[in-house]
Amino acid sequence: MDLQLEGKRVLVTGASKGIGLAVVRAFLAEGATVVATARKSTPELAVTDAVFVPADLSTADGPATLVETVLARDPRLDVLVNNAGGGDERPEGMFADPFSGDDDLWSSVFALNLNAAVRTTRAALPALTQARGAVVNVSSSSARDPHTAPLPYAAAKAALNAFTRGLAEATGGAGVRINAVTPGATRTDLLVGPDGLAASMAANLGVDRSAVVAALPEQLGMVTGDLIDPSEIARAVVLLSSPAMPSAIGSNWAVHGGQLKSA
Ligand SMILES: NC(=O)c1ccc[n+]([C@@H]2O[C@H](COP(=O)([O-])OP(=O)(O)OC[C@H]3O[C@@H](n4cnc5c(N)ncnc54)[C@H](OP(=O)(O)O)[C@@H]3O)[C@@H](O)[C@H]2O)c1
Repeated sequence: MDLQLEGKRVLVTGASKGIGLAVVRAFLAEGATVVATARKSTPELAVTDAVFVPADLSTADGPATLVETVLARDPRLDVLVNNAGGGDERPEGMFADPFSGDDDLWSSVFALNLNAAVRTTRAALPALTQARGAVVNVSSSSARDPHTAPLPYAAAKAALNAFTRGLAEATGGAGVRINAVTPGATRTDLLVGPDGLAASMAANLGVDRSAVVAALPEQLGMVTGDLIDPSEIARAVVLLSSPAMPSAIGSNWAVHGGQLKSA
């Protein structure tokens, strides 16, 4: 299948590892030109053909400055992937009391998981309109099942879903398609890394991180019995961004291994 992404220019946030890095690799494999951003690059990103531009997207000016830098190098932009997310690093993890987070915590989690996407999209929209391009926001199954993650994160992702659907309506007529991908539990540092959610669960339960990681698919109700590989989420992102999907507008594709039980 020709996804018509050859030569397209793509900006991927949260691109240094995990799902974002898989998205970078998937676009490069389609012949796209990729600008990758995170606060810091990694050896895994550095060996790809992506151009790295550093940015802290949880700051008020970070997203606009990033887009300005990207467009100053080349005014074309066909696809924006708002993937950067996470950021609730309380040691209690999923066991955190919903109200143990103060205003600063809620603000910082919303800054990264909602505001960064709003601000980056706002700055990129004129270029995306020119290109009749696409935006894919990376949400989370916890937006629909909020008990499976720290509450500020789940609430911010639910807001991201509303942003995705609402903006899609406003920009679809001008040819800019806005969609989301909702991953279930995916094998990345955010979930299984040394500072990830599984590690905090293990510390709270007094067991090894590896035991929690092994138990997660069943605990979360994944009928595959396995965590999702980031490359699978990346394939969904690439497909939704493709001009071969002109009617994918405001959709939210959940890739979750059976974890989400509602229709
Ligand atoms: N893994 C899962 O199970 C899962 C499930 C559902 C949804 N998701 C969502 O998928 C997306 C990717 O998550 P992941 O699992 O791949 O996480 P990850 O492995 O922790 O990667 C997160 C990426 O975001 C970047 N980032 C973090 N804070 C940033 C900031 N302030 N400014 C700019 N970049 C920042 C990180 O690089 P730096 O630290 O260098 O900035 C990194 O590149 C997130 O939106 C997450 O919420 C993940």
